[in-house]
Amino acid sequence: MTKLNNGHSLPLVGLGTYSLKGQICIDAVYGAIRLGYRLIDTAHMYGNEREVGIAVRRAVADGLASREEIAVATKLYPDQYAQPAGAIEESLAKLDLGWCDIMLLHHPGRDDVAAYRAMEDHAGRGLIRSLGLSCFYQAELDAFLPQVRVKPVLVQNEIHPYYQDRQNTLHIQSQGIAVQAWYPLGGRGRRRELFADPVLQDIASRHGKTAAQVMLRWNVQNGVAVIPGSSSPSHQAENLDIFGFELAASEMAAIGSMERREKHDWY
Ligand SMILES: NC(=O)c1ccc[n+]([C@@H]2O[C@H](COP(=O)([O-])OP(=O)(O)OC[C@H]3O[C@@H](n4cnc5c(N)ncnc54)[C@H](OP(=O)(O)O)[C@@H]3O)[C@@H](O)[C@H]2O)c1
Repeated sequence: MTKLNNGHSLPLVGLGTYSLKGQICIDAVYGAIRLGYRLIDTAHMYGNEREVGIAVRRAVADGLASREEIAVATKLYPDQYAQPAGAIEESLAKLDLGWCDIMLLHHPGRDDVAAYRAMEDHAGRGLIRSLGLSCFYQAELDAFLPQVRVKPVLVQNEIHPYYQDRQNTLHIQSQGIAVQAWYPLGGRGRRRELFADPVLQDIASRHGKTAAQVMLRWNVQNGVAVIPGSSSPSHQAENLDIFGFELAASEMAAIGSMERREKHDWY
């Protein structure tokens, strides 16, 4: 678990739901909870908050876990920042889970401070438990923090072996803010070269693990939580099974040397 600066905690591995739609999303989220996932990451922009809510409610009704045990994260998109209260209410209504465990700003943008303050208000009313940011790098974070009352508990940024951005991660962590990796496997459509990288293949074969498991384990050993996306039950199970082995310091260093500063998305 990642201990947060407000006393709550979040699992180190969660399910990402970007691009999962309709029944595929419902089945993926429900199946993940059955496998043991206790953190689901969605966003207004993914267009699947309603489906995530349906799957979580169904899992709770079927006794797979209690609502308290499942953390759900969602995000406000910049085009919502000018009308934040309505946007927050919309996400809460679509999720229909009583409360949202963590809400993030998806990106820096115009009116982001006002949007965050609206999230602070909703947190004060018990409708959101924790607040966070996404796609905030050092300069944006340092400018943002003095303007808000409640310190974010977490920043979610792109992090995989070809875009490690270690200095930024260390800077965020040094402020008592947890870091969580999006695109921990390089992102949809950008995986082929990364998965076949000889450094990862070599380490994976030494441990009897897959390249995906090595990448996720590397992030976790750096104190970075991960939210790999998958609608495949076998991939979901594989991605959760990263706690029975440990990468040696030399293996961590070898993966560290894979840094290319190669972002796989524009933000
Ligand atoms: N805050 C932001 O701005 C932001 C941006 C992007 C994403 N995100 C979040 O981060 C999450 C993760 O990103 P992502 O889902 O786009 O990319 P990702 O987790 O890096 O990669 C997902 C891709 O890898 C495949 N995969 C998953 N596990 C695998 C395994 N064990 N072996 C082989 N292939 C595997 C998935 O296919 P299968 O379905 O076939 O398993 C899918 O194509 C998103 O779902 C979203 O929640 C946030």
